[in-house]
Amino acid sequence: MRLQKYIAMCGVASRRGAERLIESGRVLVNGSLVDYMGCEVDGERDEVSVDGVVISPEKRLVYIALNKPKNYVTTVSDDLGRPTVMELVSDINERIYPVGRLDFDTSGLLIMTNDGDFANAVTHPSHQVDKTYIARVSRPLEKSDIEALRAGVELDGRKTAPARVEPLSNPKRIFELKISIHEGRNRQVRRMLEAVGAETPALQRVAVGGVTLGNLPEGKWRRLKQVEIDKLRGRKNHDKSNDNKR
Ligand code: URA
Repeated sequence: MRLQKYIAMCGVASRRGAERLIESGRVLVNGSLVDYMGCEVDGERDEVSVDGVVISPEKRLVYIALNKPKNYVTTVSDDLGRPTVMELVSDINERIYPVGRLDFDTSGLLIMTNDGDFANAVTHPSHQVDKTYIARVSRPLEKSDIEALRAGVELDGRKTAPARVEPLSNPKRIFELKISIHEGRNRQVRRMLEAVGAETPALQRVAVGGVTLGNLPEGKWRRLKQVEIDKLRGRKNHDKSNDNKR
């Protein structure tokens, strides 16, 4: 693209202002002075500096919630050629990526961004962001199973942290439950349910911190609201007042 357009894209000046910067000899391309119009640059390969400072395009930070269908991987590419969530967000220009993971066979809320600090804040174990799932199980659970899940079950020789667990069906024949955890161990919810003797034919994530899936259609995405971004970023979701309810 034209050098003046690139300088404007970097937020240094308007296009007209960029022309003046060029004409006054303040712009270098790959270390060489360019003080004439008509120079073309490749933003990926060429290094442009203004007054000795290397410039780069302003990065627009993007934060979205996607309703991931099952049978999609949450990686950017897949060696086995399976569909990836990237195909569902191909209408977004920025290079976003998933914040954390959902299993191939799990559906529901997946947050995606191009903001590395935000992704770190949401996934770092010390932030203890709650993730809430609705699980359908293969056999009716007993009250004692629910208590065991709440208290924590042994996975890989280590007990899971206390979970919030709410039966969603007839308390005598519990086939569906809502479970909130803040750890992010591999296939954690399915393995917790396995530990009490149940398979999980369907698992859907319905919330991450204060962000809920709501009625977002499957396979569709929406932008996060600023208040949702702020809450997730700053949130220490470990609410002590709730500890005894877990
Ligand atoms: N727990 C699971 O078992 N699977 C997921 O995808 C997320 C949490």
